[in-house]
Amino acid sequence: MYLSMPNVYEKPIDYLDVIEKIRDAVGGYQAYVAVGWVGATILSTYIFDEFKCFPILFVHGKRESGKSTFMRWIMNFFGIDTEGIGLAETSQNFIARALSYYSSLGVWFDEYRNEPKVTQKDGFFRSAYNRQYSGKGTTTAFQTKGFEVNGTIAISGEELPRDNGLFTRCVILQMSAYKRSRKYYDWLNQNAHTFSSFMFNEMILNWFYDEDKVKKVIDNIKNLKAALISKGISDRTAENWAICAGTFDAVIKRDKDFLRWVEKACQEIRLSSEQEHMLNQFWEDVDYLVSKNELGNKHFFVGRDSKYGLDADLLYVWFPAVYTEWAVHYRKKTGREPFNKVSILKNIREEPYFVDNNTFKRFRNEARKALVINLNEATDEIKGIAENFSLVSDGD
Ligand SMILES: Nc1ncnc2c1ncn2[C@@H]1O[C@H](COP(=O)(O)OP(=O)(O)O)[C@@H](O)[C@H]1O
Ligand SMILES: [Mg+2]
Repeated sequence: MYLSMPNVYEKPIDYLDVIEKIRDAVGGYQAYVAVGWVGATILSTYIFDEFKCFPILFVHGKRESGKSTFMRWIMNFFGIDTEGIGLAETSQNFIARALSYYSSLGVWFDEYRNEPKVTQKDGFFRSAYNRQYSGKGTTTAFQTKGFEVNGTIAISGEELPRDNGLFTRCVILQMSAYKRSRKYYDWLNQNAHTFSSFMFNEMILNWFYDEDKVKKVIDNIKNLKAALISKGISDRTAENWAICAGTFDAVIKRDKDFLRWVEKACQEIRLSSEQEHMLNQFWEDVDYLVSKNELGNKHFFVGRDSKYGLDADLLYVWFPAVYTEWAVHYRKKTGREPFNKVSILKNIREEPYFVDNNTFKRFRNEARKALVINLNEATDEIKGIAENFSLVSDGD
């Protein structure tokens, strides 16, 4: 693999028109966030001095949703025409070289997946976020190789990082083939080589060398960050999004709807991480209650049912009773109100292990309406619970 040189288009272009065309092509404000990330990258030395971090742009979506196409256009703003660096194939050494070579430019890695060949590089990206060269664990990796981090990072992939440390360092943009439009697709491909005019004529000549303007960007980021925090967004999420969206807002275009969209995107991250947390806590507690015999075969049953067409053992849960026991336990343990039944159930329905919530099953002698879980898809916690009620020990 080699590192290609940026190729800058110096003639002025109507970059606002380009950005609107990309927005139309991908069907949303993801375009603004990504271009904001480009602008922030050019100013990244200042931003880094102020915030001591720089967000990782993560473009997420199903196969063929347009991730690579979008990122190819975005990288053209740097004058870099690339297919992205394949994450499974590349080495840590190459990543370090690329992030050192591309000074105040973005580096794009494609095909993120939660498999060892890729996730072994998670620590590298986590430390690059803070441009750390020393410290504990993998943060010494750059130092030992004698590289500095000068570039910023974009990653695309069908899977989101399971590594929570990496996840929280990313600004995640969701791509969808449904929202896409063909209208400017060819135009954008044909004109992509001109997009770097924005970097050169606007970001570098107009903003980078003007102290007052840089200060304006930094202040705008700070204000947006504070506004997001006041709405309950976590410090890090607020900072990451504010760096991209606040730069866009200061440099390119003021758009109230865009800022509302950003807040909504941040709220969704907050809810999903809380909800994930909620279910973990619930199943962990249930496992504990089973081990203390406070929940037992009155509440759980492991069996099979051909009607679901699944070649899997199923865990049947008498959910209302389990919930009631859990809620009592939770109140006692934490002194706080437990999550309500409907929201726990709603989140369980979103999980890959969910099969059914409306079937009658006999638990010991009583027929109850049961929640049904596919044990092939279940978390280790749930599998652990089911082991207490495995098929062989049935009926005792
Ligand atoms: N906005 C768009 N309009 C029309 N076709 C598109 C658009 N974006 C992507 N495509 C096409 O869809 C296909 C998948 O796009 P790609 O960017 O490779 O998706 P991904 O990287 O998410 O798998 C490609 O053939 C690409 O040319
Ligand atoms: Mg792709």
